[in-house]
Amino acid sequence: MNASETPIKTGKIMLVGLGPGSHDHLTARARAAIAEADTVIGYVTYIRLVADLVQGKEVIKKSMTEELDRAIEALDRASRGKKVALISSGDAGVYGMAGPTFEVLFQAGWTPDSDIAVEIIPGASALNTCAALVGAPLTHDFCAISLSDLLTPWPTIARRLDAVAYADFVVALYNPKSGRRTQQIVEAQRLFLRHRDAQTPVAIVKSGYRPKQRIEFTTLDRMAEADIGMLTTVLIGNSNTFIKHGLMVTPRGYANKYAVEAGERNTKAGEQAGRSLSTGLNGWMAQIQASGRSAADLAAEYRLPEDYIAAVLATPVPEVGEANEIEA
Ligand SMILES: C[S@@+](CC[C@H](N)C(=O)[O-])C[C@H]1O[C@@H](n2cnc3c(N)ncnc32)[C@H](O)[C@@H]1O
Repeated sequence: MNASETPIKTGKIMLVGLGPGSHDHLTARARAAIAEADTVIGYVTYIRLVADLVQGKEVIKKSMTEELDRAIEALDRASRGKKVALISSGDAGVYGMAGPTFEVLFQAGWTPDSDIAVEIIPGASALNTCAALVGAPLTHDFCAISLSDLLTPWPTIARRLDAVAYADFVVALYNPKSGRRTQQIVEAQRLFLRHRDAQTPVAIVKSGYRPKQRIEFTTLDRMAEADIGMLTTVLIGNSNTFIKHGLMVTPRGYANKYAVEAGERNTKAGEQAGRSLSTGLNGWMAQIQASGRSAADLAAEYRLPEDYIAAVLATPVPEVGEANEIEA
């Protein structure tokens, strides 16, 4: 199809992330998208969060489990030329309406060239907002895992929990517990305790940025006893995360390179600003190649697969480029 044949977009579906639920954290574009919409579709609680913005519009409230129905309703209205705001808490693309909506659209034969426009409007997800409430827990590698087994088999969830606990990620647990699902958080704790220290810091954020907000700090061995519900996000620290003065912080790794003494930052012996650590990829490759140790021995020390170590031992150490990077 050439440009002159492109159909004029008539209907529109806007996938709107509301952020945590307070108007202060609703983006300007999310607010404008709701204002622009003829129809607003969402879970009853989310509709309530924006009740003052939806007056005079067609409002379709659905229950939590009716995600596909919400997407089907949106497609129906958009096919009739309406502008539809499909609202999600947090970000619509994080355990939200964006995925189910595209599945329904694709099944109906929709393509980006069709006459229905689709816009995804990002919002701050629970992991961002809950992290902001407790300090800086996500300043190193992190991931999100949902404990909901409504659509995902438990062995899949358990395998992911086990992998990230082993790999020392900071983890945000979404959908940790509900009235019917109470054992999942206990199982998550069991899997984490196989790899992590019992004293690993954990933050429990309930109803973040909403009137019933509640924040609790605990430790991994006590995590399952905490007050956790449907509107809770659980943040489990990594092996370096600490809590100080009521703030949960995960270090970026500056202590690997610099020593701060008497207010001065000094680079440690063997390290250079703007360059990979002496134990970064090249330094580590050179070190293990010079060690003369076996792949099996090194694999056990570094908890890495033996065939990977063997491949690294056989790879020439790359040339080092210019030092023009920011520390990351
Ligand atoms: C179906 S998921 C939706 C996630 C959402 N799309 C997002 O990006 O935050 C629902 C889960 O998000 C988390 N959540 C959403 N809003 C929250 C809030 N205000 N405070 C704490 N956790 C929240 C909880 O873990 C809850 O079980």
